[in-house]
Amino acid sequence: EGGGTADIGVVGLAVMGANLARNLAHHGHEVALFNRTQARTDRLVEEHGHEGRFVPSSDLAGFAASLSRPRKVIVMVKAGEATDLTLEAVAEHLDEGDVLVDGGNAHYLDTQRRERSYKRKGVHFVGAGISGGEEGALNGPSIMPGGSAEAYAVLGPLLEDISAKVEGEPCCTHIGPDGAGHFVKMVHNGIEYADMQAHRRGLRPAAHGRAAGRPHRRGLPRLERGRPRLVPHRDHRPGAAAGRRRHRAAAGRRDRRRRRAEGHRPLDRAGSPSSLGVPVNAIAEAVFARSTSGHTTVREAARGVLRGPGGGQVDDVDRLVDDVRQALWASKVVAYAQGLDHIRAASDANGWGVDVAEVARIWRGGCIIRARLLERIRRAWAEHGPATLLAVPDVADDLARAQDGWRRTVATAVGTGVPVPAFAASLAYYDTVRRDRLPAALVQGLRDFFGAHTYERTDRPGSFHTDWSGDR
Ligand code: ATR
Repeated sequence: EGGGTADIGVVGLAVMGANLARNLAHHGHEVALFNRTQARTDRLVEEHGHEGRFVPSSDLAGFAASLSRPRKVIVMVKAGEATDLTLEAVAEHLDEGDVLVDGGNAHYLDTQRRERSYKRKGVHFVGAGISGGEEGALNGPSIMPGGSAEAYAVLGPLLEDISAKVEGEPCCTHIGPDGAGHFVKMVHNGIEYADMQAHRRGLRPAAHGRAAGRPHRRGLPRLERGRPRLVPHRDHRPGAAAGRRRHRAAAGRRDRRRRRAEGHRPLDRAGSPSSLGVPVNAIAEAVFARSTSGHTTVREAARGVLRGPGGGQVDDVDRLVDDVRQALWASKVVAYAQGLDHIRAASDANGWGVDVAEVARIWRGGCIIRARLLERIRRAWAEHGPATLLAVPDVADDLARAQDGWRRTVATAVGTGVPVPAFAASLAYYDTVRRDRLPAALVQGLRDFFGAHTYERTDRPGSFHTDWSGDR
């Protein structure tokens, strides 16, 4: 038997793992350490050993022996095969009742598979989404753990301890069984991505307006405090332009580092038309926009050949800036609406019982999508759990106010040849869901006419086919 004294262990000591281990140590916990390449473990102890109580091990047997029981181990390695190999290797040294956590960015189906397999050994497996990048990992992330309630009882207090705090409340809650935590993290990444994409795109029309010869007085909108790194507020003091360039370059580097650290790959799946049948087009367009801009062969071939619009000048830059602000806000709301709808559908399909109010609460800290909007979401879902965020009365009112600017932004962008996929997709969604009967009825009719694909009717069940030609 025996057993060590460490409260928790971290396996995988690259940026995210090392910072989580330090965060745990800063909160007074004794932290067992292991990394495949021992040099990383040594470096962590050398550079940060004085920050708390670390117990480094050079092999997994020693690592497991250094942990108190039930053991709690967080694995922070590359998503995919590396995660499976590492989890397997760690699990060999675990006993019944121990808790094994994958804190990486696994796809939730992988998490479900792993949970099933470890359950057979009596080991509690927890897939935990950890948001906030390397800085969050060190100073307080938003944590989305899945897995069983028993596992959360053992692990939760530790995770809540190191999570971000908003109004004294930890940004960590038990999301639901098996893959629930990683699913919610995937949606979180998708919303975050759509938001960042919209902000980047939002810069373009305004820059375009400036090129049309209008001075740029008021600068670009800043949607919310705490986000200057995405939308730098304009400052026209001498030297400010150079400062802005440096700021943007630094923000870009941070952003890339963050995405690497968080392994944003699951985004590509978050963006695909959901297998749950939930339209997430605003989020998907943001992801597609990235792959289009990275598609350099096509872009190079098209650049000199495809011509832009002849006219299309922005006359009132100040108004455009204001309009872009409305478009940014509205698209963000649509991304949230789609993301929350996706969570509801997955929760229903898997019987997770995810509490959306709680999700909104823990997203408020530690990650970059913290927004006043989250507080409204939390309140709405705590009260009545609306079918869509868009229909929450005060949100619908604000959307109604934002829509003129939102529409003008999309129209101006189309007229001047500036791509705004996130704005346009979110507006299409808004206009689609608010309509009573959809052009979809017409599309069904056309498909039946051209390809005999049949159609459904509103007045009775079944599939119907009509000879539309009227020849006979
Ligand atoms: P980051 O992007 O934060 O630097 P990463 O590349 O996602 O990190 O993951 C790196 C971590 O995964 C490292 O701890 C790495 O171990 P090494 O330091 O030995 O390279 C670990 N890792 C990657 N592949 C692994 C594998 N097949 N088995 C075990 N650990 C692995």
